[in-house]
Amino acid sequence: MYFTRKFTGQVGENPSEFLVKELFPQRLALFPAIFRMLRFFAQLCAKRRGPRWHIHSMKINGKPYRTIWLKPGDPATIQIIDQRHLPHELVIEDLTTLQDVASAIEEMHLRGAPLIGSAAAYGMYLAILRAPENTNWPDFFSTTSATLKATRPTAVNLAWAVIRVLETARIFDKKEEILAAALRTANALTEESVEHCRLIGQHGLELIRTLRPQKPKSQIPKPLNILTHCNAGWLACIDYGTATAPIYAAHNAGIPVHVWVDETRPRNQGARLTAYELGQHGVPHTVIADNTGGHLMQHGMVDMVITGSDRTTRTGDVANKIGTYLKALAARDNSVPFYVALPSSSIDWNIRDGVAEIPIEERDAQEVTHITGMDGGEWREVLLTPKDSPAANYAFDVTPARLVTGLITERGICAANEQALAALFPEKFKA
Ligand code: MRU
Repeated sequence: MYFTRKFTGQVGENPSEFLVKELFPQRLALFPAIFRMLRFFAQLCAKRRGPRWHIHSMKINGKPYRTIWLKPGDPATIQIIDQRHLPHELVIEDLTTLQDVASAIEEMHLRGAPLIGSAAAYGMYLAILRAPENTNWPDFFSTTSATLKATRPTAVNLAWAVIRVLETARIFDKKEEILAAALRTANALTEESVEHCRLIGQHGLELIRTLRPQKPKSQIPKPLNILTHCNAGWLACIDYGTATAPIYAAHNAGIPVHVWVDETRPRNQGARLTAYELGQHGVPHTVIADNTGGHLMQHGMVDMVITGSDRTTRTGDVANKIGTYLKALAARDNSVPFYVALPSSSIDWNIRDGVAEIPIEERDAQEVTHITGMDGGEWREVLLTPKDSPAANYAFDVTPARLVTGLITERGICAANEQALAALFPEKFKA
């Protein structure tokens, strides 16, 4: 039941004290003092714990990390985890120019839709920082944003973040103000992204509670088997992840989960990154070859699928890492619920038909013909295919909305269709 009594106290009077007065008039003198004492202790504890993200954020060897941050004491440098070295080495890379950021995105030192959005925003900031005072700002904005947008075409978060920086920065004339606006926006959208992933985790947790296998109290609870594709974990975001956020939330809540991790050829984001993350967080998981999912589903070994998204249309079609579509088909054939976890920054509100309208990135064929791994402490790349066989490398595919059971967003879970998205995000559907 909600308490709806209106606050009619004096201006300046604390509403909680007003409530106490109304509810317990006879304890009038005592309760405000108790409230102040409790508030004091809560503040003291919060101070001891440090900033909020340190409490919740994902950890590597017990130390909290994000995937991108401003270098402490050096506001001209952005630092990232260079994901090309994971899972065998943890390498932090400094980025100081627009070109550094553009190459890091293109060559996938960092990757994943939400993370490339944040990186692009910080890339705009670094570009402004290095621009001379007398820059022609309109020209500068169009060339820098074009450079960043060209790095990876499928994930819409990249263009979304660049536009957000432009909208806030271009209202100013002086470099100092433009720079401050760009940094403010990059920081704000990064924090928002973290919060959205946290909320996706909470909504997904409720879903997992309803899907978990029910067992008589006397027996050891069976884990919920979740299959995921690619890396839609915290390494693809800033913190928590999208597809992994409900998994971490369930694990933290004591619900037994086990994750089938698709290796995700050709770049093996599942085998290298998702497996690493889950291992660091202590979540039971098994890496499988990409073509295993259908077999597992036929044998009742998958309770649900959760993937991320690089771009979702306003009608609920989902572009995600190549191979996602095949998992959705297998899930439908075997009546396994197929969920997509995504922040609204991954929704392209301007398009309706994912197959026809979402640009699919094609990457270097060498990612298919070769494979890289650690050999006796050295990274080695070896040739897999006959040396003259041509190869094709489509990085994403589109899963039509009809195969998606639901979308897990920061505002809740909805069906993958226009009406349901409009109910959650009405402001995006206003004419
Ligand atoms: O090519 P990548 O590694 O950037 O592709 C990433 C994915 O496909 C993820 O599933 C997607 O970005 C969702 S991230 C939370």
